[in-house]
Amino acid sequence: MGAFEIGDEDFLLNGEPFRVLAGAIHYFRVHPDHWADRIHKARLMGLNTIETYVAWNAHSPARGGFDTVGQLDLARFLDLIAAEGMYAIVRPGPFICAEWDNGGLPGWLFTDPAVGVRRNEPLYMAAVAEYFEQLLPIVASRQIDRGGPVILVQIENEYGAYGDDKDYLRALVELNRAGGITVPLTTIDQPTDQMLSDGSLPDLHKTGSFGSRATERLAVLRRHQSTGPLMCAEFWNGWFDHWGAHHHTTSAEDSARELDDLLATGASVSLYMFTGGTNFGFTNGANDKGVFQPTVTSYDYDAPLSESGEVTAKYLAFREVLAKYAAVTGSLPAPAVPAPAFEVALDEFVSLWDELPALADISAAPTTGLPSMDALGQYTGFALYRSRLTPGARVLSFGEVRDRAQVFVDGNPVGVLQRDHHDRSIGLPPGERLDLLVEDQGRVNYGPRIGEDKGLIGPATLDGVTLADWQVLPLDVDGFVASGSARFALDLAGSGSLSGPAFVRGRFTAEPGVDLFLSTAGWGKGQAWINGFNLGRFWDRGPQTTLYVPGPVLRADNELVILCLHGTESTLARFVPRPDLGHTDF
Ligand code: GLA
Repeated sequence: MGAFEIGDEDFLLNGEPFRVLAGAIHYFRVHPDHWADRIHKARLMGLNTIETYVAWNAHSPARGGFDTVGQLDLARFLDLIAAEGMYAIVRPGPFICAEWDNGGLPGWLFTDPAVGVRRNEPLYMAAVAEYFEQLLPIVASRQIDRGGPVILVQIENEYGAYGDDKDYLRALVELNRAGGITVPLTTIDQPTDQMLSDGSLPDLHKTGSFGSRATERLAVLRRHQSTGPLMCAEFWNGWFDHWGAHHHTTSAEDSARELDDLLATGASVSLYMFTGGTNFGFTNGANDKGVFQPTVTSYDYDAPLSESGEVTAKYLAFREVLAKYAAVTGSLPAPAVPAPAFEVALDEFVSLWDELPALADISAAPTTGLPSMDALGQYTGFALYRSRLTPGARVLSFGEVRDRAQVFVDGNPVGVLQRDHHDRSIGLPPGERLDLLVEDQGRVNYGPRIGEDKGLIGPATLDGVTLADWQVLPLDVDGFVASGSARFALDLAGSGSLSGPAFVRGRFTAEPGVDLFLSTAGWGKGQAWINGFNLGRFWDRGPQTTLYVPGPVLRADNELVILCLHGTESTLARFVPRPDLGHTDF
């Protein structure tokens, strides 16, 4: 059994000064068959600790459940860290930010407007207590004083950037302690006086989040944490990307110099991220400070280890820096080899309209008024909003579109309403049946807009007159693809072009375990699955034009399904040797 404490000057591991050299790996963003590889490569770079958030909404998509299978097997992830001889830091939130859908807060939490998130509100705290009851036994039994790897647990996340409810922080501390957490508890805040004092409590160990100017930032932190070790618990060594913007990179040299400056002060560190992983499926978050900006599928983060686990120039530079401060043992991981490049003909297709009965409960009763997706229990993905036009109707308007609606009249595409353009109205051709295929593009994960409803937000009007009668169908695209029930039929081989929204399918052989990169160039916007595994969203706005295919999802014979929302001129899918995360701003 070991002990981990906060001393007057240092972290103390079994009574001896210990510098935490950690790096973040989010188990929920990495295929579970890759966990051991990523953890091992962290140790080979010179780290001694792995840090992870816990994404509450991933474990509990419905209230009461707590899924721990496969990619959500946190116990196994922590055991692999221990097996590598490393320590672990766990950040269970409940709010985690992390460019993750809703900052990790489950969508169902917000359906009762009386629930007050991120404060000491009884309904919210009751839900948090249920979450901790299921989660904390996994973490508590793996703490260092019980022979496990866990040395620190964080309370909330950058709370000072959001609120100042000290009773809330105290209640979280009590829940952690009651749940058997015995290791030191920390908070993290951006290094400003206001955030550091709002975001913590006197008996919690305060840490900072930043990626540069360490001496200056640590001086601010020291004003609030007068004794004990200083720690940058999120050293931002890269950044995330939004659709339609550039791919963020920082030079290996500059990042390594910043890391060196930080370590030269004697501080502890956790790299954010060591390896970023992927926002598979519909898991990405978004930002909104006046313009809605959904986060892309790749969470490569320009981290030292790439999305696909490749050693980068930043990895090598960081390894050199770390070697100045601690023994770096073991050999360098082998350099990556290019992925197999080949083409697959997608020659089977089925229109989304024809498959509605398999995608949704089409007997759903029409509603009076305009329900959000949340009101129908749909917290992610797509919904179809359907109504009838009055003769002569010319302009359709909504209060707000969250987040993107393709508009169809009698099945013909009319246009798109996009939240990031603040679109609310569209001119209509004559017709009768009105359909809007609405995509929740990811919930805001930072600031006051967390938890807001998705879908079409009223009032809905036709030429200024309320349009009250709707049928709203939540679409289960994942279930549809995984079930294999799609009636793929038409052979596209002759035409080579395709008008969406439609699902297209092709088959290919591959070597199981060997990663691939699917080029989405020319495919417009949509979603892609291999063997039912949802690789994530793609969009020709970029910056990324490839999707990462983790080798473990591949078999000898594979099925690729693409949901093509608009149209494509070539129904060939191309696998390419390297990822393309898009243009940078250099
Ligand atoms: C903050 C948050 C993280 C993440 C980063 C940006 O530090 O704590 O969860 O959102 O910003 O990547």
